[in-house]
Amino acid sequence: MKKKVLALTLGLTMALSLAACGGNTGSSTSGAASGSGADASTSGSGSSGDLITVGFAQVGHESDWRTASTKSAEEVFSEENGYELLFNDADNDSAVQLEAIRSFIQQGVDYIIVDPIVSTGWDSILTECEDAGIPVIVIDRTIDDSDKYVSWVGSDFKTEGLACGEWLKAYAEAKGISEINALVIEGSTGASATIGRTEGFKEIADREGWTILDSQNGDFTEAGGQEVMESYCQSYAGQFNVVICQNDNEAYGAMTAMDAAGVTYGVDGDVIIVSFDSNKPAVQHVLEGNMNATFECNPMAAPFVDEVIKQLEAGETPEKEIYMEESWFAAEDIVSEITVNGEAMPVIHVTQEVLDARPY
Ligand code: AHR
Repeated sequence: MKKKVLALTLGLTMALSLAACGGNTGSSTSGAASGSGADASTSGSGSSGDLITVGFAQVGHESDWRTASTKSAEEVFSEENGYELLFNDADNDSAVQLEAIRSFIQQGVDYIIVDPIVSTGWDSILTECEDAGIPVIVIDRTIDDSDKYVSWVGSDFKTEGLACGEWLKAYAEAKGISEINALVIEGSTGASATIGRTEGFKEIADREGWTILDSQNGDFTEAGGQEVMESYCQSYAGQFNVVICQNDNEAYGAMTAMDAAGVTYGVDGDVIIVSFDSNKPAVQHVLEGNMNATFECNPMAAPFVDEVIKQLEAGETPEKEIYMEESWFAAEDIVSEITVNGEAMPVIHVTQEVLDARPY
């Protein structure tokens, strides 16, 4: 079993960070420049007074999940908490993200946080950070071709995909559904979130002999999900009974496309639809039976990064890998537990109380 974030005693910090979230994704924060420009020009540079300067190279603003991630960082890396945050929204452009990191190096920030758009192509820029003596903390998505970072805080995406597959197997059995013909709407190409979820679900599909009719890139956006689903509805009309959306926003787009095509879905429909992320609007859809299940990807990494920085400031060595705690949510109370990687995991039946307790 993977080490979970509970190893860090951050409950209070996290609770505080979730309290009041304002602003907009991609907006500037205290002393920070915004936008998606490659120069990532920021006001204030390097160590400013007693504040710890942190440059955050964010993926973009493609999804509700991303908005929650950015807001969490803005909350945690505030002046009140002793930080100056320099923020860059790369708008899903890897070249912009690399240039933002170079700009952070030039400005002499104390720490760099990066959520890597893609999982490869990192060794050179991380070497530049290392040469400049700036510790890098990776969040959310993984870097697969370099280990020149202090810590990574994020999700086990393959486990999310496996959980989705194991839940679908148990659900289909409980419902007497003997044949699975699935359509997958993937996230952005090259993102570790896409790679892990695709691999995990495919592993179960192959084991169970399911058919994956198609698997196309919806870019983690609502518009992308809608576009892919519109084309699926034309190409595979009457042939599919499962739609796997690799994030919530794609699922919203897919539902719009199925509505237009006259395809019914959810608890009372012909098609089982699931998503990853479990933002509040998705859990609301599950509560209402519009979606059958959602598999959480936890965006609240910032409090744990704060802890990593505090450990570094104290001369301690943080954990190299810190996994976020995640849960699985379903509309019907017929699968209460699944086994993933040999570990029994609960499936939460969504009630109003469960929805009300969702933090983002
Ligand atoms: O990397 C995490 C993924 O990126 C989330 O699932 C998705 O919503 C986001 O855009």
